[in-house]
Amino acid sequence: MEFDFATPVERRHPTEGAWPSQKWHRYGDAVLPLWVADMDFRSPPAVIEALRARVDHGVYGYGLVPDSLRHTLCQWSQHHYGWSIEPEWQHWLPGVVPALHLASLALTEPGDGVLTMTPIYPPFLKVAERTGRRHQQAALAEPGQPGGPWRLDFDALEAAITPETRLLLWCHPHNPTGRVWSHEELAGLAALVERHDLLVVSDELHCDLLLDDGVCHRPLAAAFPDLASRTLTLWAPSKTFNLAGLTTACAVIPDRALRRRFTAGIRGLVPDVNVLGAVAAEAAYAHGDPWRRALLEVLRHHRQTLVEHVATWPGVTMSTPESTYLAWLDLRGAQGLRGGTGSAQRELLERASVALSDGADFGWPGFARLNFGTTALQLEQALTRLDAVLRA
Ligand SMILES: Cc1ncc(COP(=O)(O)O)c(C=O)c1O
Repeated sequence: MEFDFATPVERRHPTEGAWPSQKWHRYGDAVLPLWVADMDFRSPPAVIEALRARVDHGVYGYGLVPDSLRHTLCQWSQHHYGWSIEPEWQHWLPGVVPALHLASLALTEPGDGVLTMTPIYPPFLKVAERTGRRHQQAALAEPGQPGGPWRLDFDALEAAITPETRLLLWCHPHNPTGRVWSHEELAGLAALVERHDLLVVSDELHCDLLLDDGVCHRPLAAAFPDLASRTLTLWAPSKTFNLAGLTTACAVIPDRALRRRFTAGIRGLVPDVNVLGAVAAEAAYAHGDPWRRALLEVLRHHRQTLVEHVATWPGVTMSTPESTYLAWLDLRGAQGLRGGTGSAQRELLERASVALSDGADFGWPGFARLNFGTTALQLEQALTRLDAVLRA
């Protein structure tokens, strides 16, 4: 089946009652937005049809998570990750970021240490402070040579851990570097987690968008069964199927005691399931895979286009993303930039009218994150603008 990933969809000035999007409204009309992690593609036709049918029902009162959704996710997990999960392990929630905060609240005590690694998707850096816990962070190791992979730095991790450290916020695959962590790296992490008796929240939101042929996602809790009893795995259809506005995610918690602690600790803090989000999630997991596979082809192509452009930008490097539609650019040596007091992101916004995400927000100034989840036409336009500044 053919899917349309080529025709731009009007998101800045949408008609027919569509509401504005954050991505296209933060900056002025002249700016091409390649920042926040959502894509400019319509969701799979099966999702749109299922939503249409649910909307036609006309009653949108408090919903329940249907058993059919739980079973669909069990099947997806078995089929795509080789992990057999149970329906009752699933706790559906209104988002992954809420889940990070809720896990901190429910599973740690005031003053406990919440550890993460930088660079990292910005909300990770705020979870401890917002929940009255102690923020702890360790840096990842930068690529050994330009374009090489980012790696775990176990010495830095050990140095950051204190007796107070209780919870690790982990991102697998990784936003913003696009790393798909190797089994060896995960094994080292698993050993460290057990050695220090930590709990883990494994944010696996980008795990259905692995870009390299033949690579399959292996959830942390599945790869290391001993870790399952201390791990809360977060999944959602939002990145894969472009459903972020439907605020639906799932925490998978195999251990009954941990599940009870989590459920008891978050009672009353979050709304019930979003009925449209649940419908969309089920349709996506049940019928969306052909669309996802077609999307991966498009993203691989875009990644290649980006690699070719970056190669012509003197002093700019990027480790080729192994997953998702986000690219992490090292602009510290960019010869086309004037530098000065502002960030590289700000300079590119002003001089190229392209909006990227500022690396400083990820705990790593001098870098910027570029979202290539857009049509080839829009990506080419944005890259041409960036060429004009960065090739200079
Ligand atoms: C790693 C990661 N976690 C969480 C989120 C946000 O998830 P949600 O919209 O479900 O809160 C994002 C969004 O980009 C993300 O990249």
